[in-house]
Amino acid sequence: MAKIIMYPGETKQEALDWKQTQEQHITAVFKNILVLGSGGREHALAWKLAQSEGVNVFIAPGNAGTAQVGRNLNIKADDFAAIRQCCIERKIDLVVVGPEQPLVDGIVDFFKADEALKTVKIIGPDRRGAQLEGSKAYAKRFMQKYGIPTAGCLTVTTENLAEGESFLSTLKPPYVLKADGLAAGKGVLILDDLETAKEELHNMLGGKFGMASEKVVIEEFLAGIEVSVFVLTDGTHYAILPEAKDYKRIGDGDTGLNTGGMGAVSPVPFCTDDFMQKVEERIVKPTLHGIQSEQIDYKGFVFIGLMNVSGDPFVIEYNVRMGDPETEAVMARIDGDFADMLDKCAQGRLDEAQFAKNPKTAVTVMMVSGGYPEGYRKGLVMKGFGELSDCVAFHAGTAFGADEQVVTAGGRVLAVTALGDTIEMAREKAYRNVEKISFEGATYRHDIGMDLMNYR
Ligand code: AMP
Ligand code: GLY
Repeated sequence: MAKIIMYPGETKQEALDWKQTQEQHITAVFKNILVLGSGGREHALAWKLAQSEGVNVFIAPGNAGTAQVGRNLNIKADDFAAIRQCCIERKIDLVVVGPEQPLVDGIVDFFKADEALKTVKIIGPDRRGAQLEGSKAYAKRFMQKYGIPTAGCLTVTTENLAEGESFLSTLKPPYVLKADGLAAGKGVLILDDLETAKEELHNMLGGKFGMASEKVVIEEFLAGIEVSVFVLTDGTHYAILPEAKDYKRIGDGDTGLNTGGMGAVSPVPFCTDDFMQKVEERIVKPTLHGIQSEQIDYKGFVFIGLMNVSGDPFVIEYNVRMGDPETEAVMARIDGDFADMLDKCAQGRLDEAQFAKNPKTAVTVMMVSGGYPEGYRKGLVMKGFGELSDCVAFHAGTAFGADEQVVTAGGRVLAVTALGDTIEMAREKAYRNVEKISFEGATYRHDIGMDLMNYR
């Protein structure tokens, strides 16, 4: 296991000097990159990749924003046969898988098993590795086996329901119940009352989240502040990318329903060198050791959802992809040839890649459709793109309507991202631009990053 040294970016001049030496390192050896997915994460990945020399970016299926940085292809991210065909016809060199579902469905194994795709590199873990996200029970067993700090838990099926109920009785409230499988981000219940928790345990095992809750993980509640840590690994080497904080609730002050994410900030002030050192020693290294010991083929992103419990990190969850909207903030802070980095990663040569973290703060504010995360309208015309300045507006749920106008096409619509020397400055820029965009019913949180302003 070898750590990739990243330029720490303490002063602007140092960063500029470093960047200049980088220009000489860049050896783009490929041309065609295919990004799978259609959200803000994929726009941010495609945007960053398109900045590399000599690269063509294709996005399948993409959105109105990805069309500005590459070529959208009318192929769904889970249509393996069409993706295969496209890789052959367009001579794709590298595939970057955005969402988790194709990974859990085994797209990496599919590529490895196909002679015609032997030369196509792919970023993502194999099907077994994807179980780190696809099965919470698997992820918890993995963490226990490799001594990775996480909440105490019990996995329950209808077979050991009574044991599950007794385990719940030994815990203090609130009670955490998690559907084992993928449940579109909705499979976690946090309940204050023991009787309700027992009732919900029955409901979940009875099919509340379909097959995803045939198994339920009951967990101890961890009190603390969450942060998303991103690692890129080729299975041997690893690089810790900029961390980010995500804002999950719909309303200001963390109120209301859970969403896919209403904004992000990177870096996170409580992720000091000391805290990140603990993350690396206690979590990143044992996770990599586990991946190697289990002989998982993993060339991709590991997204570690952490709880900072009084200065000590505990893993809440693994994801096998980048986060959304975290990616929109993280990509804004990566300096260097990202296409080269992913290409080297896919070849098991991540140790040869170099990149820097931009020392500025990125703030991403997600503009969403009125009514989201419940029912909302689509196809609403969006205005104001021409007035944006000093920001990047990553498209999450957009499409081209009649007359090629950009229209809304999802709950999360636009991830407006700005960089600033401080959180305050980045916030000011991001919100100044958010106010220039209009569509009927547009909603956003006003407090992204505000909680972190007190951490200095
Ligand atoms: P997950 O899908 O596992 O990330 O869970 C969704 C959300 O539930 C997390 O982002 C946390 O906010 C919360 N959560 C999950 N597990 C715990 C836990 N053991 N203690 C406290 N909060 C949790
Ligand atoms: N923002 C959280 C996630 O992508 O799962």
